[in-house]
Amino acid sequence: MTYEHVRLTEEDGVATVTLDRPEKRNAIVPELAAELDDALARVEDRVRVVVVEGEGEAFCAGMDLEKRFHEPRKEGPRAFYEAGRKTGRMFTTLYEYRRPTVAKVDGWTFGAGYCLQAVCDFAVATDEATLGLSEINFGIIPGGGAMWAAVNTMNRRDALYYTSTGEPFSGAEADQMGAVTMSVSEDEYESAVEELVDSLVEKNPVALQFNTAVLERVRYMDFDRALDYERGKSEEMKYYQEDEWVDEGIGQFKDRRYRPGLESYEE
Ligand code: ACO
Repeated sequence: MTYEHVRLTEEDGVATVTLDRPEKRNAIVPELAAELDDALARVEDRVRVVVVEGEGEAFCAGMDLEKRFHEPRKEGPRAFYEAGRKTGRMFTTLYEYRRPTVAKVDGWTFGAGYCLQAVCDFAVATDEATLGLSEINFGIIPGGGAMWAAVNTMNRRDALYYTSTGEPFSGAEADQMGAVTMSVSEDEYESAVEELVDSLVEKNPVALQFNTAVLERVRYMDFDRALDYERGKSEEMKYYQEDEWVDEGIGQFKDRRYRPGLESYEE
């Protein structure tokens, strides 16, 4: 597949997928969604971390309001359903992705763009970024995962406030709410992303994959079920790791080569 609306680069085990429709503030059309999905699938088995970013002034200004909503709606239910199916798949792909994903929230980030950063494992914003759940401003509610994104990144009061008013908020405010992993000044931005990516790259990739998957499941379990589930999943993970954790992770500690409270073992 050749890409028109997305760029894919790879360096030292890190893939960067760039939404490349700056003239439309990286608004999502079905073609962009399909390309993003394809790019993610292409690198999933061979990289350690994926960074998702937007070209130009926006991370992502949400669904393309004309091509995803207006045109297919006028065409009829089938076209509307198909447009939703095509644009929706990439959110599930990202949510279930086996490698850590980092969203660079720099610039405009609305609706489906908000959802896009929320389904990534980590989101680093600039203090000046502008985010919002703006659906109410054109008369609907967040859908297609954006409501899920609101309640899973904000507390109930904030989620109700921002979905009901459509009021935009800054990256710094998103950070205060816990809606992004962190927000930093423009000056510190690239190095903050790099530091996060570097720290993920040096971790055991199988452990990282299981960490996210198990965390997402146990959030919805009571303690007894979580204990059983964590025990089972931990053993499955150790099997896939061929006991690297005990040979190297604990082994290097036994040889006093590092302090696990402060750093990772060396692969
Ligand atoms: N869908 C379609 N086109 C868009 C979108 C969008 N979501 N966002 C921006 N564009 C287009 C504009 O129509 C314009 O196109 P044109 O040059 O052909 O006229 C171009 O991108 C630039 O947009 P401007 O509004 O001129 O840029 P500005 O920097 O002044 O404003 C902003 C950017 C604030 C993002 C504004 O474009 C906007 O409000 N966009 C809609 C944001 C939004 O509410 N998204 C929907 C979220 S809900 C959902 O995703 C389900």
